[in-house]
Amino acid sequence: MRTADRIANLPPYLFAEIDRKVALKRSEGVDVISLGIGDPDRPTPERIVEAMGRAIHVPKNHQYPAYAGSQPYREACSGWMKRRFDVDVDPTTETLALIGSKEGIAHVFLAFVDPGDVTLVPGCGYPVYHTGGILCGGETHWMPMNEGNGFLADFESTPRDVLARTKMMFLSYPNNPTSAIANEEYFDRAIAFARENDILLIHDNAYSEIGYDGYRAPSILQRPGAKDVAIELFSTSKAYNMTGWRVAFACGNAKAIKALGTVKSNIDSGVFTAVQDAAIEAFAGPQSEIDALCAMYQRRRDEVMGALHKIGIEAATPKATIYVWAKIPSGFTSVTFANHVLDKAGVVVPPGSAYGPDGEGFVRISLTTPDDRLAEAVARIEASL
Ligand SMILES: Cc1ncc(COP(=O)(O)O)c(C=O)c1O
Repeated sequence: MRTADRIANLPPYLFAEIDRKVALKRSEGVDVISLGIGDPDRPTPERIVEAMGRAIHVPKNHQYPAYAGSQPYREACSGWMKRRFDVDVDPTTETLALIGSKEGIAHVFLAFVDPGDVTLVPGCGYPVYHTGGILCGGETHWMPMNEGNGFLADFESTPRDVLARTKMMFLSYPNNPTSAIANEEYFDRAIAFARENDILLIHDNAYSEIGYDGYRAPSILQRPGAKDVAIELFSTSKAYNMTGWRVAFACGNAKAIKALGTVKSNIDSGVFTAVQDAAIEAFAGPQSEIDALCAMYQRRRDEVMGALHKIGIEAATPKATIYVWAKIPSGFTSVTFANHVLDKAGVVVPPGSAYGPDGEGFVRISLTTPDDRLAEAVARIEASL
């Protein structure tokens, strides 16, 4: 049996690799604390769980879902965009249900990228922006992204010959893994650039709801002309602690939404309608749990920042997301530091280099660990140095 080259061409999936190392350590009796994956530790709000409880008893929901999402779900997504951002998206032609935003990211390649086509990918970012391209024979052009440019991916430096082959560009602010945020001027430049070069701009807004010190992330669709060139992805995962439920949506440019929907209708049969009903409750119900969630992460952020400062590890204080992007001490690479911390402290921190070439020199600390374990992890790192 011979598997396809596209499998051999994939780098090992970062979090699967981390899981393997953690399992090994645990089998050796080590009490491992994982600050690895961004998977909220708090439960889904009760009102959403209750909505699911009701929806699961509706026999109609036991049948195949609508491919693009139920009309009520898409109306709830559109209503949320209006209330949250004052953005108008037509529920029928400009929104699409996704089985998590990861699914949408992976499948948008099939809608736009032929073998040899290029995708502009942030120099460090969510791994699927790169691996989705590999899976359909596309090429990645890494957009430089570093402290000097505020971790705002530099699309304007892309060489002309690369641009001639480019079909799509990913941006994501608030950013995973760097926690950087973008302002309107940057979004306006990205929209103009996508228009000039006839590129689909995909803005992954997975962390839109997680902000600190009063910061609330914008939608790129608030900017003039955005819908001509862009789609934006939103997810219930981080905003409502629903990573396990697998429900998200894409919205924006109708042609791109239609193309992605066409791919999906040939691959999956939609999101379980009861899960969509629960997500309607998430988007349409009271949003006050989000404030409490952000307050909790902000407290953890402050504890981690204080502890890192004490150890002498530099990190910018994040205004959003659930990550602290910390500089590694001298004498280490990202990978040797991550290995050191796992071996000597029993703590998992993903090496920045796993997110792309510009992640070297950093590790990502996730705030999705209960306070006492987070404090213990940082104390153990201190002791290991
Ligand atoms: C930037 C970014 N995009 C997308 C995702 C995937 O989210 P979902 O659970 O909606 O598939 C993640 C998950 O961590 C992420 O960090």
